[in-house]
Amino acid sequence: MPAPIVDLHPYFVALDEIEGVIDWTTFFGNDHPVEMDIGCGRGKFLFESTVAHPEINWLGVELDYSEGRRGATRISKRALPNGRVIGGDAKDLLTKHIEPHSVQAARVYFPDPWWKTKHKKRRLFTDEFADLLARVVMHGGHVHSWTDVEDYFTVISALMNNHAEFEPRIPPPEPEGKDDLDYLTGFHRRRKLAGCNIYRGLWLRK
Ligand SMILES: C[S@@+](CC[C@H](N)C(=O)[O-])C[C@H]1O[C@@H](n2cnc3c(N)ncnc32)[C@H](O)[C@@H]1O
Repeated sequence: MPAPIVDLHPYFVALDEIEGVIDWTTFFGNDHPVEMDIGCGRGKFLFESTVAHPEINWLGVELDYSEGRRGATRISKRALPNGRVIGGDAKDLLTKHIEPHSVQAARVYFPDPWWKTKHKKRRLFTDEFADLLARVVMHGGHVHSWTDVEDYFTVISALMNNHAEFEPRIPPPEPEGKDDLDYLTGFHRRRKLAGCNIYRGLWLRK
């Protein structure tokens, strides 16, 4: 018999439970700045950031509920008030449920590369997605994106560097060392251990 699904509210919320535009103060119970981890996977970055930076409200968004619930479970075990995961499509969330210019930073780490030519149209980063980031990130806020896929990074950089609302900035250095905390995300760890180059981008929302 499958294990019963644990109720992870308020740490994990499904997108279809959300009505209208999210009021961050109500959602997190405080008015700290909000940073999003889009496609947070199992939530390594999300959990560690939630612990390390209680002055920031961290929101993971993850299409794959079982992955998103893993991150939310770690946050719930510590009852951390400043970490949450929304399960669902980030494009829907950004389009319908986020107040314009209400997010301090959006982070998109190791978005799925969709290697096959016929699948590349499934990639998250498109003109429309860059517009959505411009819509939700506040003036003076940032978008961070890392990937090990050079051709995808070329696409992401072209979209962001040429977007009227963003300006490229020099990303912080990639941490060196072998400590687990030196890996930003689960995919960062996996790709570094496989010997891959990591391409890092940072953009200022004008
Ligand atoms: C390659 S994994 C990277 C996970 C994590 N960021 C990391 O670096 O370890 C990409 C993640 O993005 C999620 N994802 C893909 N499209 C998404 C979308 N439209 N909305 C939310 N999550 C999405 C996938 O389910 C997957 O967990």
